[in-house]
Amino acid sequence: MVERSSGPISSLYVHVPFCAQKCSYCAFFSEPSSGDVINRYVDALVREMESVSGDVKAETIFFGGGTPSLLNLAQWERILKAMSRLNLLGAAEWTIECNPATVSLDKARLLRDFGVNRVSMGVQSLNEALLDRLGRIHSREMVFKSFDILRRAGFENLNLDLMFAIPGQTMEIWRETLREATALQSEHLSSYEVIYEEDTALFGQLQAGEVREDEELACAMYEELVSHAAGAGFVQYEIANFAKTAGPSQTLPAFACRHNVNYWRGGAFYGLGPSATGYVRGVRTKNWSNTQLYCEQLERGKQPAESREQLAPIARAGETAAFGLRMVQGWPFDHFQAVTGFDLRKDWTPDMTALVNRGWGHLSPEGFKLTADGLRFADAAAQMFLR
Ligand SMILES: C[S@@+](CC[C@H](N)C(=O)[O-])C[C@H]1O[C@@H](n2cnc3c(N)ncnc32)[C@H](O)[C@@H]1O
Ligand code: SF4
Repeated sequence: MVERSSGPISSLYVHVPFCAQKCSYCAFFSEPSSGDVINRYVDALVREMESVSGDVKAETIFFGGGTPSLLNLAQWERILKAMSRLNLLGAAEWTIECNPATVSLDKARLLRDFGVNRVSMGVQSLNEALLDRLGRIHSREMVFKSFDILRRAGFENLNLDLMFAIPGQTMEIWRETLREATALQSEHLSSYEVIYEEDTALFGQLQAGEVREDEELACAMYEELVSHAAGAGFVQYEIANFAKTAGPSQTLPAFACRHNVNYWRGGAFYGLGPSATGYVRGVRTKNWSNTQLYCEQLERGKQPAESREQLAPIARAGETAAFGLRMVQGWPFDHFQAVTGFDLRKDWTPDMTALVNRGWGHLSPEGFKLTADGLRFADAAAQMFLR
């Protein structure tokens, strides 16, 4: 297995496990919390940053959640100043996720001043009744207002997250949301079909028969997404991700999320914060999904990892193959070999052939990728590559 990351690690994920209120569909590790708990988390996070900073030269940073924008100005100042002291500033791409209800001009300017240059905003829908049903804390007006604030603060790389196949969402409502969202002219768009995650309120409603899934409508909505995004000038580069602006063929669009591309291409990254996963020199770690325990461990000078796992090289390569197939480009054979040390043509030929025969895969002398149909069922296709 070729190790790409013998030098410092260039990618950093930070999980912020707080939300004002839990949305009905969401299974990410996050909970509503008070000032003291958040302050304690900030101190613990700074300690965890101290423990990895010597091994990081950040090219991409991503603060996800939860709702990173929920932290107040003073809490952000503490994090940003610590990052400055630890030489963690200066990433080429630095994203922070935000909820439209928690954006202010002061906060946006502070983040921009320290080098944050990309904001990913959770919009989900622009239909008031659906926002309510999803348990979102913001109105559609707040989306437009926050978008404007972010532009005024100088952000030139904005992403909007949308969801489709939401119970009660008709094709008409979906089209209207797509039309209004793309009219904002963000640089990036992510859109996922609703997943009924166990232990969520929405899952309970499905179990109780109060809502039902409509696979045919979900497929039609995905097709609408793909064609509408193309019409609005976006290039699809992953199943659920679209960015401006097209470059020469075979290259990614200019505003593709470099941080996520690193995941899909099997790159290394540190994951900090409760529940965060990391992948460094072939070892996968997962932090405790318990904020109090996470803080206690760091306060005692210990690492907050719940588990550490070193995968066999072929298993790592299989996972890397599966992740990379989410990308529209699929895997150029030489690229896969450079990352994993394995040749797709040797170990995965029966799987690629089966997918080609089903109309889900496209094989060329240079590489393998999923077709448009295959992308729709990428999870099932990717399963075949695991070893
Ligand atoms: C961590 S959240 C984004 C930031 C912020 N917490 C917010 O929601 O405004 C990441 C994104 O994952 C998507 N997501 C979360 N749970 C989902 C689910 N059950 N099914 C589909 N998409 C989901 C949503 O689009 C959400 O914006
Ligand atoms: S979708 Fe975002 S705001 Fe809603 S609970 Fe999940 S992380 Fe929090």
